[in-house]
Amino acid sequence: MKNSGDEIETVAHSFNHMVRELTLAQNRLIEVQKELATKEKMAALGRFSAGIAHEINNPLGTILVTAGMLKEASSKDTRILPEEFDEIIEEVKRCRDIISTLRTYTSRTQPSLTRMRFSDFFDRMAQQMRSVVEFNDWELAFTSAVADGDLLVDLKAMHQVFHNLIRNACDAMTGCAVRRIDIIAGKETDHFSIRFQDTGPGFQCLPEHIFEPLFTTKAQGTGLGLVICQAIIDGHHGRIEAGRIDNRITEFCIRLPLTRSDSENSGEDHR
Ligand SMILES: Nc1ncnc2c1ncn2[C@@H]1O[C@H](COP(=O)(O)OP(=O)(O)OP(=O)(O)O)[C@@H](O)[C@H]1O
Ligand SMILES: [Mg+2]
Repeated sequence: MKNSGDEIETVAHSFNHMVRELTLAQNRLIEVQKELATKEKMAALGRFSAGIAHEINNPLGTILVTAGMLKEASSKDTRILPEEFDEIIEEVKRCRDIISTLRTYTSRTQPSLTRMRFSDFFDRMAQQMRSVVEFNDWELAFTSAVADGDLLVDLKAMHQVFHNLIRNACDAMTGCAVRRIDIIAGKETDHFSIRFQDTGPGFQCLPEHIFEPLFTTKAQGTGLGLVICQAIIDGHHGRIEAGRIDNRITEFCIRLPLTRSDSENSGEDHR
């Protein structure tokens, strides 16, 4: 018969064995998780590339057919219509747009963040957006309830976010009698919010699709505008969400983290 010392030893031994097994299982789990993440990234990349190939293939098809027709017409000396050249030019432009948007997307995933006062940043965006000539027909109303606070921001990248969201709101309100876009800034405990509101008809699809790469409901859209916005906002450690309010207003809300200023950290005011 075993004495109690032996029993304790046996229990300790089994316990140690169990700990080792658990550690091994945990390590294996971490490895599997890493593998899954890589696989998911590869799958996402695959879907993304397939989408781009599809998008570029369409205009290339039109270019090929039209160029073939032109070649045939010129050999028979038939009258060549200028529209046929236009078609080629338009489709080439579309390919160029897709490629240049993608280039911006890939080069802008890591924003270079500089610290500034939120009010300065918001004023700067208001000024830049108003000077974008193509928006002259639209009323842009910038309102801010933010008195103080700093944020870390990449101005160039954020210009692109504002531009994309405003452009989308303009597109949505084409043909509407009132064409006003409200851009409203606020401050919460740990973040700033910027709401882009338009009174267009809202989403022509399930809202969950709008952030998917290459998803568009527009004849000339590339479907990358919101993907780029999301990548830039992620790079700012923020969030972007879309929704409808009272079935009347379409809203895109950006949240950006508030950065504690040095004076707040030290309890003194150096400004
Ligand atoms: N303010 C809005 N109101 C209604 N629908 C919107 C709005 N903003 C975006 N959407 C929908 O989301 C889709 C995706 O927008 P996104 O900006 O990514 O691409 P796009 O505008 O179609 O093309 P582009 O790449 O040229 O910006 C749009 O095609 C549109 O259907
Ligand atoms: Mg867009």
